[in-house]
Amino acid sequence: MLSNKVTQALNKQIELEASSSQYYLAMASWAETQGLNGVSQFLYVHADEERMHMIKLIKFVNERGGHGVVPALKQPPVTFKSVKAVFEEVLKHEVKVTNEINNLVDITLKEKDYTTHNFLQWYVSEQIEEEALARQIVDKLKLIGDDKGGLYFFDRDMTALSNVNAKTESEKKA
Ligand code: FEO
Repeated sequence: MLSNKVTQALNKQIELEASSSQYYLAMASWAETQGLNGVSQFLYVHADEERMHMIKLIKFVNERGGHGVVPALKQPPVTFKSVKAVFEEVLKHEVKVTNEINNLVDITLKEKDYTTHNFLQWYVSEQIEEEALARQIVDKLKLIGDDKGGLYFFDRDMTALSNVNAKTESEKKA
């Protein structure tokens, strides 16, 4: 059985995962309108992953006798300055998610909720991967700078990366 404190904290995380999904979906849609199909595909997959993170939390809360609350949707930004700005935002956002997961882990320890603590380890590992990937992409974009040809190849590479990512995520779900 979850304590009220842990239930509230998990519901806050459900909200953050839902808003991450909306945020990345808005980025994907913007990228698609810019002809950046690889970037867009990568971000659509990323938005799906965040939705999966949210559902995993909802199901866990419900299984443990709480109630996973589906949050209201907030309007994310519609346009973005550049591809680099998009991925800098992704990285910043993922760092924020990592901090929130760490806070959650801390709450479970204080509440002596070792079951939830164990469940959250999946998210701890996931955040290491997500932050590393976002950082890698930002580094690539820094190298490319204003080179349009470089951006063309970057977009092509993102298609391949999103296919790998989609495959890995479906394996995680299985
Ligand atoms: Fe679910 Fe990217 O944090």
